[in-house]
Order: sequence, then C-alpha cells, then structure tokens
Amino acid sequence: MTKLVDEKISFAAIKDNLCDLFNGNAKTPLIDAMQVYKKEPMIGFHIPGHNRGKGVHPKMIELIGSDALALDCTDEFDNLGTLHPSTGAIDEAQKLAAKTYGAKRTFFITSGSTSANLALAFALTSPFDEVLIGRNCHRSVLTGLIISGAKVNWLIPKKLKDWSIFGNIEAQDIEEKLKNNRNIKLVWVTNPTYEGVVSDIKKIAEVCKKYKATLIVDEAHGSLWNYNSKLPTTALQLGADAVVHSLHKTGGAMTQASMLHLSKNSKFDEEKVIHALKLLHTTSPSLLLLASLDGARANLSSSTGQKMLNNAIENALFFRKEAKNIENLTVLEKNIDFDITKIFIKMKGLTGLQLEYILERDYKIEVESASDAGLLILSNIGNSKTEFEYLIKALKEISKTKYDFEHKNIKIMPLIDPEIVMNLREAYFAPKESIDKFEAIGRISSEVVALCPPGISILLPGEIIKKEHLPYLFSYDKIEVIRE
Ligand SMILES: Cc1ncc(COP(=O)(O)O)c(C=O)c1O
Repeated sequence: MTKLVDEKISFAAIKDNLCDLFNGNAKTPLIDAMQVYKKEPMIGFHIPGHNRGKGVHPKMIELIGSDALALDCTDEFDNLGTLHPSTGAIDEAQKLAAKTYGAKRTFFITSGSTSANLALAFALTSPFDEVLIGRNCHRSVLTGLIISGAKVNWLIPKKLKDWSIFGNIEAQDIEEKLKNNRNIKLVWVTNPTYEGVVSDIKKIAEVCKKYKATLIVDEAHGSLWNYNSKLPTTALQLGADAVVHSLHKTGGAMTQASMLHLSKNSKFDEEKVIHALKLLHTTSPSLLLLASLDGARANLSSSTGQKMLNNAIENALFFRKEAKNIENLTVLEKNIDFDITKIFIKMKGLTGLQLEYILERDYKIEVESASDAGLLILSNIGNSKTEFEYLIKALKEISKTKYDFEHKNIKIMPLIDPEIVMNLREAYFAPKESIDKFEAIGRISSEVVALCPPGISILLPGEIIKKEHLPYLFSYDKIEVIRE
C-alpha cells in the first residue's frame, strides 16, 4: 500500500518533468523504420496488391495522397518487424510503450480496444468460470464472454438518474460480491465511464487483491492519464492486472489503434494473452496504425505533446468556468470524481440531441455524442482555445433563443437492473426467432443490443425484455429472442 503511494508520487514527478526525462523515450523506432521503407522502395510482389498505391483508384489518391498510400502495408515485409510474434521495430516500439506506461508488457492492437477486450476474455476466462462485470461495460467485453462461456455476475454502478448515465463503481459493492461468492476469480470494470466519471480503482484493486481476484480495467477513455498529473491516475499504477487503452480515441493515434497493457504485478500467464491475441487479432495489421501508436506515445512524452495536453486541460477548465455564466446550462461535476477533459452538459428546455442538432446546423460544431439527457464535449489535444471560445459563444446564444422543437424522448439509457435468466453464451447460441419489438416484452433476448457510442448494452443475451427498454430501441423494428 505504501509502495503504491510512493510510486504515485514519483510517477507524478516524472510526469511533470517529462520533456527532460523522456528524451530517450521520445524515440520513434517504428516511424523511423517506416521512413526507411518509404525512401528505399523494393519491387514488391506481395500483399497489399495495390503495390504502394499504384493500384488504387485515382480519386482515392487525390483524397488521401500518394504518400499515405505508399505506406499502407502490413508486417512481415521490408524489415519492419512483425506483430505476432513481436519482432524488429514493432517490438521495440511496444517495449518503449510498456516502459512509458510502467507496464510489464504492452501489445499494440490495430482493431481497437474491442479486440483487446476480446483477447482478455478469451485468455483469462474459461467456460463456467465466474466473473464480476460492471453493467456499464462495453459490448466487446460481453462478446468476449460469449466466446469464453464464463458465467457473469453483474455489478451495478451508481446511477446518475438526472443525467441518465451510469456513475462510478463502489469498492464496497465489489467486496460484497466477492465475499458472498468465492468462486469469482476475475473483476472487470470500466474506468472512466464514457462521460468521464471515475471510480476509486486503488480501493477496488485492494479488494480484488484481498479476494485473490484478477482485476481488468477497461481504461479505453483514459489513455492520456499517464501523461499529466492533473488527470486521474492510470489503473496501471493502482494495482490493476491488465489495462486497455484506446489511444485512437483521445491519445492522438489513428482510428482503431489501441494498446493492451499487462501490469508489473499481474500474476497470470502472459503467454495466454499472447496466444489469444494471435488468434483474435487480424493477421494483417496495418503498419500505419502501428506507427501511429509509436507516434502517439512519443508525442505525449515530448515537450510538444505535453503542451498540447496542458492546453487541453486548460481549455477544459476555461470551458467549465465560463459555462457557469451560461443561463440554463449545467455541467456534470457535482458529487463525482471525474476526468476534467470530458464535459457532459445539459441545457434546460432542450434535449441533448436537440442541442447537438442546433450546434451542428447553426454553428458547424460537432460534439462527441448526445442523448436526450445531455451532450458530451471532449477537450482534446487537437483543440484550440479559440474553438472553445466559439463554443461558449454558441451556447450563450442558444441559451437565449427560443426553439420550436417537439419534445420526443428517443435516446435515453434505461438504467434498469437487468433481469438475467440465462448464461450469456447459452442464450446467444440457443434457438432463436426475430420478432416485432412490441411483442418482445416478457421474452428473453438472445442478442446484445448496444448503440454506439457508448456501446453499453441495453439488452443482453439471457435478459428479460421489459417495456422500459423500448424507448431506447428506436432504431430497431425487430429483436432476436429465444424461441419458446
Ligand atoms: C469503455 C470502452 N471500451 C472499449 C471500447 C471499444 O473500443 P474501440 O472502439 O477502440 O474498439 C469502447 C468504445 O467506445 C469503450 O467505450
């Protein structure tokens, strides 16, 4: 315990002095190898068949440029290294990432944190193993458990009813579950939530340790935390065994590029994870995506990246301060721990979806997402203060304008506790039929229904369908249910 506190202090110091300390870590072995590849082209008779962009549609070249296409390749060729097994420049880049995040091992993923979650479920759970999963987990966690066949025990996070979202998970709720069911050997929580609510992972990790349960933290939305002490502390420093980061979401990597870290204290056999990744990950990883992970890590470790991140934090604080002066606007921040860069707001008189629509139509502003309850703004490393000033101005104007909208509730998270009557895998593979959603009330769902974002399931295989589910299922006519 004392050790964790010490680590946090020294880690914060490292973070604050990154530009000096990370000179070595700001190396970019994979980007450098790609540069060599670009300068010294070989005559290729291999995949990808477009052969450095020569075989693509001219409009595609015009759209993204011949340089990007010339670099579109997979591993195995041209001395760039391989991902599975990890060799060459790819291996070097992964090792640098592990060092930066303080992990025992880091794996680069080119098919999103979805694949990282699938691999963890596949590697660390077996049929009939009992696991404890946060009800607000991403659907990929459930898909992983459908594959493995583990038995799910549900952990219901706090409900922030005024905002129609899930909040934090309490360590004592986990302790209660682990005390009452000694068969549970793995706990899986999402932190932060999509809207930025943060749980006390240190306490949760202590509870897991006490009951000898492995702790996985899906930190998909927290990949920046490692790089600034004003942000929450990454679970890798707090006792989690495995942590997932979607670097592509906020870390500056390209879309689909993620990392899976095994922490220094993880006890499970890392070969199991390597094996699962080998089976579940694409066998043609995009070198562009892998290089973007190398670049994101190096950028955030550099003084330039540090400036970007400091600006993102300053901009978020600026927005939060200014928002207090906007009539009818509320920002989610009371009575919760949160990541300041994720700003969930609501405006009296408008649903989040209506506000999103006005921002897009009248101001050409796009936000991260919206529901009836609110709207999510991200203060990103790519945003400027001027953009935030414009957003504030827009919100001020909107708050003073009368809009003539019909109020329709169409997208609202039903925060109902699921009534689960069958195991996930059993329900998923049971004989099923597709029926009208209005006739499905009282029947057992056999599919995962989860709108993205945030990808939290509304209905799970094995869950009884209730009328409270229906408003959220606006884009569904039919639902797959277990045949009676
Ligand atoms: C908490 C969480 N985990 C995992 C994922 C999957 O991430 P990816 O889109 O990188 O596959 C998401 C996606 O939104 C998410 O919100």
